[in-house]
Amino acid sequence: MKKLLAPSILAGNHANLKTALDIAEGDGRQWIHLDIMDGHFVPNLSFGPQTVADLRKESELFFDVHLMLDNPHLYIDAFNQAGADLITIHIEPSYDHSESIKHIKSLGKKVGIALNPATPVEDIYEIITHHSIDLVLCMTVVPGFGGQSFIHDVLNKVKELTALREKSSNQFLIEVDGGVGPTHVQPCLDAGVDVFVAGTAYYKGSDAERREFAQSVGEKS
Ligand code: DX5
Ligand code: ZN
Repeated sequence: MKKLLAPSILAGNHANLKTALDIAEGDGRQWIHLDIMDGHFVPNLSFGPQTVADLRKESELFFDVHLMLDNPHLYIDAFNQAGADLITIHIEPSYDHSESIKHIKSLGKKVGIALNPATPVEDIYEIITHHSIDLVLCMTVVPGFGGQSFIHDVLNKVKELTALREKSSNQFLIEVDGGVGPTHVQPCLDAGVDVFVAGTAYYKGSDAERREFAQSVGEKS
């Protein structure tokens, strides 16, 4: 499985998010992680489809869009239109997860399913058994804010998912998201992580530190 560092643009300067895109592109990144927050599913608001659409015009990066919404099914078309390449929806809110996964795939986009730290892998057994999904996002913080501390216990879930994937035709990528920094890379790689989302640890560093962080993940700059 390829290994990637996906900078989380939430940690950028929201008065000029293009700068955060440019840093990631200049650094040789392939993905950018965009956190969409509704103030209901998470106690914070971030940005919407118009922002994503405007950023889309500025970049060729792979847009990894993380919908932290109570009703993500109502916004799939909007973020598809805006130019998302991968749309990740959470398992916790009650909506028709299967229908939403099918809809995202019907639009030709990649689909991810996300688990909050307290949500067990069992909660997505059905999904990963019946659908070919592209990514499982394991939140390593309680979602809503950047700059929180990494919850190491989540790596037990990553190991469970890695074992599940070995027995499955469903070769989904495993992503960790929240509080990820250079010191977490090796334990995450050992557990089977493929995609590392990093906001604070990525954007607060120098260019050299960013490159080092990306190289430690195994992504060539
Ligand atoms: C938190 C978001 C994360 C966050 C990562 O709710 O899903 O993507 O922006 O940022 P850091 O790396 O600063 O925790
Ligand atoms: Zn995220």
